[in-house]
Amino acid sequence: MKNIDAAPAPIGIFDSGVGGLSVLRHIRKQLPSHPIFYLADQLHVPYGPRTLEEVRSFSIAITHFLLEKGARVIVVACNTASAAALHTLRETFPGIPFVGMEPAVKPAASHTTSGVVGVLATPATFQGELFASVVERFAQGIKILKSTCPGLVEEIEAGRVNGTRTQEILHQALDPMLKQNVDTIVLGCTHYPFAIDQIKDIVGTGVEVIDPSPAIARQTERILDQMGWRGNQDLATEIQIYTSGSVVALQHLLPKLLTENYPVNQVNWIKNSVIEPEVS
Ligand code: DGL
Repeated sequence: MKNIDAAPAPIGIFDSGVGGLSVLRHIRKQLPSHPIFYLADQLHVPYGPRTLEEVRSFSIAITHFLLEKGARVIVVACNTASAAALHTLRETFPGIPFVGMEPAVKPAASHTTSGVVGVLATPATFQGELFASVVERFAQGIKILKSTCPGLVEEIEAGRVNGTRTQEILHQALDPMLKQNVDTIVLGCTHYPFAIDQIKDIVGTGVEVIDPSPAIARQTERILDQMGWRGNQDLATEIQIYTSGSVVALQHLLPKLLTENYPVNQVNWIKNSVIEPEVS
């Protein structure tokens, strides 16, 4: 039964690092009265070169943590973790709604007129069944060019989106696509929207660059509506960020990525679980 008097349900969001903040900012805009708990697993970033099994086990432990914090819906704001774990997460936590990322091949396929679409994503995302399935379902007859942009996640984590290394990586990925007449680029990793200006500068105005985050925020809203979890109270919302890496480094990086600032808290990995240190 829907309880429309309830407070807006808290949303749990996670990623290997700061990438999922590109999703958080849209969720925040779309659902301003919902508390958010965001976990950046920066001890383990990047997820992209890891095995799907490893990313799956991280995702399960992080979900446990976010649910303990009070999250009622989980947004897997990481294409790699979605590719590796979404199916298992839904099986492991029945009754919990999950919103996952999948490379936006469907809107790209409807947009392209040249018939050539570029997808930027991590190696693990390309290996997962999810990618093969979206290509098979939505991109019949479309030429898909893939690039893993090696090193780009690390540059964004280090706050060097305007650096020369970022430029080199993007040129290596995009120049061959441009030569093959690409007209649509899919950002298939949640870190990459933070480099969207740099990407647009290289590809020019004739190429559409698709960031799926606004669609993910709308999907999160739809799910909350369906569950009757929007609430009707205008509470002062709590947003808490957790990192398994360096709190200080993340506090310095946040203002470069977001317009709002949020508290950053430490979490540690202990025996395959995410634990918040006790405050003495
Ligand atoms: N932001 C992530 C993604 O969407 C993961 C990047 C990484 O850690 O390799 O795939």
